[in-house]
Amino acid sequence: MSYAQVYGQWQQDPEGFWLSAAGGIDWVKKPTNALNSDRAPLYEWFTDAQVNTCWNAVDRHVIAGRGKQPAIIHDSPVTGTKHVITYAELQDRVARLAGALKAKGITKGDRVIIYMPMVPEALEAMLACARLGAIHSVVFGGFAAHELAVRIDDCTPKAIIAASCGIEPSRVVHYKPLLDAAIEQATHKPDFCVIFQREQEVAKLTPGRDVAWHEFQYGVAPADCTPVAGNHPAYILYTSGTTGAPKGVVRPTAGHLVALNWTMRAIYNCGAGDVFWAASDVGWVVGHSYICYAPLIAGCTTIVYEGKPVGTPDAAAFWRVINEHKVRAFFTAPTALRAIKRDDPEGKLVPKLPTLQGLYLAGERADPDTIHWAQNHLKVPVIDHWWQTETGYAIAANPLGIEHLPVKIGSPSVAMPGFDVQVLDEGGHPVSPGTLGAIAIKLPLPPGTLPTLWNAEDRFRKSYLNHFPGYYETGDAGYIDADGYLYIMARTDDVINVAGHRLSTGAMEEVLASHKDVAECAVIGVADDLKGQSPLGFLCLNKGSNRPHDEVVKECVKLVRDQIGPVADFKRAVVVDRLPKTRSGKILRGTMVKIADGQPWKMPATIDDPTILDEITTALQSLGLARS
Ligand code: COA
Ligand code: AMP
Repeated sequence: MSYAQVYGQWQQDPEGFWLSAAGGIDWVKKPTNALNSDRAPLYEWFTDAQVNTCWNAVDRHVIAGRGKQPAIIHDSPVTGTKHVITYAELQDRVARLAGALKAKGITKGDRVIIYMPMVPEALEAMLACARLGAIHSVVFGGFAAHELAVRIDDCTPKAIIAASCGIEPSRVVHYKPLLDAAIEQATHKPDFCVIFQREQEVAKLTPGRDVAWHEFQYGVAPADCTPVAGNHPAYILYTSGTTGAPKGVVRPTAGHLVALNWTMRAIYNCGAGDVFWAASDVGWVVGHSYICYAPLIAGCTTIVYEGKPVGTPDAAAFWRVINEHKVRAFFTAPTALRAIKRDDPEGKLVPKLPTLQGLYLAGERADPDTIHWAQNHLKVPVIDHWWQTETGYAIAANPLGIEHLPVKIGSPSVAMPGFDVQVLDEGGHPVSPGTLGAIAIKLPLPPGTLPTLWNAEDRFRKSYLNHFPGYYETGDAGYIDADGYLYIMARTDDVINVAGHRLSTGAMEEVLASHKDVAECAVIGVADDLKGQSPLGFLCLNKGSNRPHDEVVKECVKLVRDQIGPVADFKRAVVVDRLPKTRSGKILRGTMVKIADGQPWKMPATIDDPTILDEITTALQSLGLARS
C-alpha cells in the first residue's frame, strides 16, 4: 500500500485504523472501543482495555522464543565498557527490581522519579515501574537540583531512583548531592530513594531514606505484571513551556503501546530482531519512545549509548557503534551531525555502513547542509521527522516502512496517519498552500499523545486548546506546500531549541530576575552554527547598582547554571540601559533576535522608543553579533 492509501484509510475510518493497529499488542482485556469523546475536547483512546506495558516490552518476547536475543546493548565509551542484556535477563532484572519496589510499598498509580544517566538500569527502572503500574517521571541529568525539586513537588513521588553519578567527557556529574539538595528544597519528601552505585563514584547513602540498588533487591520475590486500564498514565515527562514551571506531559498507557508499535514498522521499517539506535538520552521524549519503549515493544535490540558524537573518542564514534552492533535504523539530532561534520567535513571517517537502512533526524530543524552531508557520506535515506514531547512520536515523517516518498530538503515531509495538520491564520482559518501560519492539528489527536497535563487541566486547555477551538496548537509556525509537505519554521512561543534540547527563555528570565542587581531582563535565542540556537540574556540593572557589569554577568551565568542546569547552556549576557518594548509594555524579543542574527528587520509600528534599538544593536555588536 502507498502512503496515500494508508493515510486515506485512516481518514476514512480513524477508529478502525487504530483498532486494527491494536492487534500488534498483547491485551489482558482487548479494547472494545477506540476513541472516548465523553469529555471532548479532552479525548482518550482504548479507555476500557486492560494491558501492561512491561509485558509487551519484555515478557511476551521471552515467551515468543526471543529470550536469548539481546534486548539492550550498553555501549559506553566514557567508561570504556560494553554490556549486553538479553530479553530473558531483562525480564529477570526488571521483575526483581519491581518486586523490591513492591516490597517497599510501590503500587499502581504511585509516582516514581528516575534521575539516571545513560545506563541500562535507567530503562530497567522505567520498565519496573510499568510492570507495577507505577507512573514514572524521568528527569534529565543535565538539570540542576532546583529543577528536580520543582518536579518532585509537582508529581509527589513515593520513591526516587537515582544513580550515584553520571559521566560527561570533561567531568563526573555528582547526581547524589544534586538529589539530596533537591529533596532538601522540595516541600514533598519521597518515602525512600534507591541509589544505583556506579564504580566511578560511590555515593554516601542517607540512613533511613536511601537504599542501595542491589541490596534492596536481595531475596525479594519477583513481581508479575499488573494490568492497568487503557487510559492509565504510563509516565509523566516534564517539558519546557512559556513560564518557568515545566509542563507535565501525561502519556496514556494503551495508546502509547499501540502507536509506538505502529511507528516501528511504518516509519522506521524495523521489526523483531532488528537493531535500533536512538542516540538521545532517556531524559528526553526521544529517549522514552525510541531508546526504551518502542524498540522493546517491537522486539528489537536497543542501544543505550553513553557518549557523545565527537570526543568519545572522535567523530567516528557513531559509525563505530553502527557497524559494531549492526544497527539498522539510527536516530539522532541534527546538532550531533553538525558536530561530526565540523570535525570531519569531508566525511573521511565515515566507513561503509552495510547494515544501516536509514538515518532519522528530529528535535530541531534539519538544515540543508547537514542533510546533504549525511546523504553524501552515509549513503542511506536521511529522514527528517517532526514531533514533540506532547505527541511522543512523529507528526510528520517520510514513512520508510510504507513508502519512501520523494525527499524535499527543509521539510520533514508529510502528516502521518492520526494527524490532520493544518496551518491557520490568527483568526483560526486554514490558509492556502505556501502561506505561513500557526501549525495546528485537528482534534482528536491520535492514540498515545497527551490527554492532559499532570495536575494542570486548565493549563492544558489554555496552552493547547483554547486559542484555536477544535484544534491542538503545536506552538510551531510554518507552512504546507501544494504537495502536502510541511515546513517547520519557528516557535510561536518563548521556547528555544539549543542542541536539540527544548528550553524556556521564560524560565531563564525568572532566574535572572532573582539576581539582586537585576531590575528587568530578557532572554532570546540567537542563531548558532553548531547548536541551532544559543540563549543570550539582556540585563537592566537596578538604579543605584554600580557593580562592574562583567561581575553581574558572571554571577547571572552561574545562577542559571545552578538553578536550571548546565543543559541550559546559558553562557552570554549583556547589560543594557533599557529593553525595547511596545507601547503596551511587551518586550520586542522577535526584533532583537532578527538584529542579533543580522537578518533584515522592520521597525515595529508599536515600538515605544525606537532609539533603544540602536543601543541594543551596539550591545549585540560588542558580543560579535548583529552583523549582516
Ligand atoms: N548530565 C549532566 N550534564 C550534561 C548532560 C547530562 N546528561 N548532558 C549535557 N550536559 C552538560 C554538558 O556537559 C555541558 O556542560 P558544560 O557547560 O560544563 O560544558 C552542557 O550540559 C551543555 O551540553 P551540550 O548542549 O550537550 O553541549 P556540548 O558542547 O557538551 O556538546 C553536542 C555539543 C552537539 C556534541 C551535544 O549537544 C550533542 O550531542 N547534542 C545532541 C543532543 C541530542 O541528542 N538531543 C536529543 C534530542 S532528540
Ligand atoms: P521536544 O518537545 O523537546 O521534542 O521539542 C519539540 C519542538 O522541537 C517542536 O515543537 C519543534 O519546535 C522542534 N522540532 C522537533 N523536530 C523538528 C523538526 N524535524 N523540524 C523542525 N523543528 C523540530
